[in-house]
Amino acid sequence: MRFQGKRIFVTGAANGIGAATAQLFREEGARVHGVDVADADGVHHCDVTDPASVQAAVDTAAAEMGGIDVLANVAGVNVFSRLEHMTLEVWNRHLAVNLTGPMLVTQAALPHLRASRGNVVTVASISGIQGQPYNSSYCASKGGLRLFMKSLAVELAADGIRVNCVCPGGVDTAMSAHALDNLQGEVDMNLISRMMGVLDSFMPPVKIAEALAFLASDAASSTTGAELVVDNGTLW
Ligand SMILES: NC(=O)c1ccc[n+]([C@@H]2O[C@H](COP(=O)([O-])OP(=O)(O)OC[C@H]3O[C@@H](n4cnc5c(N)ncnc54)[C@H](O)[C@@H]3O)[C@@H](O)[C@H]2O)c1
Repeated sequence: MRFQGKRIFVTGAANGIGAATAQLFREEGARVHGVDVADADGVHHCDVTDPASVQAAVDTAAAEMGGIDVLANVAGVNVFSRLEHMTLEVWNRHLAVNLTGPMLVTQAALPHLRASRGNVVTVASISGIQGQPYNSSYCASKGGLRLFMKSLAVELAADGIRVNCVCPGGVDTAMSAHALDNLQGEVDMNLISRMMGVLDSFMPPVKIAEALAFLASDAASSTTGAELVVDNGTLW
């Protein structure tokens, strides 16, 4: 019961890693306010790319729970595309959801995190560390996200706010199942295989939830600005 009495805001809570994270925090005693653009039982509506939607969701969560101790930025999108086929819409969507979204949500949650001396845990990706073929817009968004969060770790340390990331490899969710759906042209499987881990190729979402929970817990009270890679041994 590491999160007994803690008040936790989770984005992307309708599916995959976000749903597993919300469930794990609840199982360990937390009150969780989950948000998403997709509908799911007990999940509130919020589009992380829309400042008004974000502010309203954070205000509602803080009012209902009496504050926020932990922000978990999990919402994200991933659509593979070769550079020559990449539309501006796809490029902008990756940056909006994966990079601007966590900025808006963290900014809105800041007064509450200051009050609780809480912490932020964010799902980045190994795609923000290694270059990946046909995935450049996603890699750019996640690389930016890592450095954005590292910057906040330094900036917010004086407020007692810790900021950490988890960088997953392949996780068994709808995102990974459909990321290559619209990829046009011949695919070099030798390049694709470099994204696979030496353990199983895809891990269950709970493995990432466990890593987020560790970083959000008091056991990680000396850890900020860190990136915990959980990738089945891809970046060896
Ligand atoms: N699945 C993987 O292999 C993998 C690997 C590394 C990192 N990640 C990251 O993990 C996170 C969760 O991904 P997942 O695999 O669980 O995918 P998922 O598609 O199962 O879940 C992502 C959730 O984000 C929500 N979302 C999308 N746009 C949103 C918006 N504008 N506002 C609010 N919610 C929005 C979706 O509706 C969905 O419920 C993402 O940030 C993703 O980039 C996933």
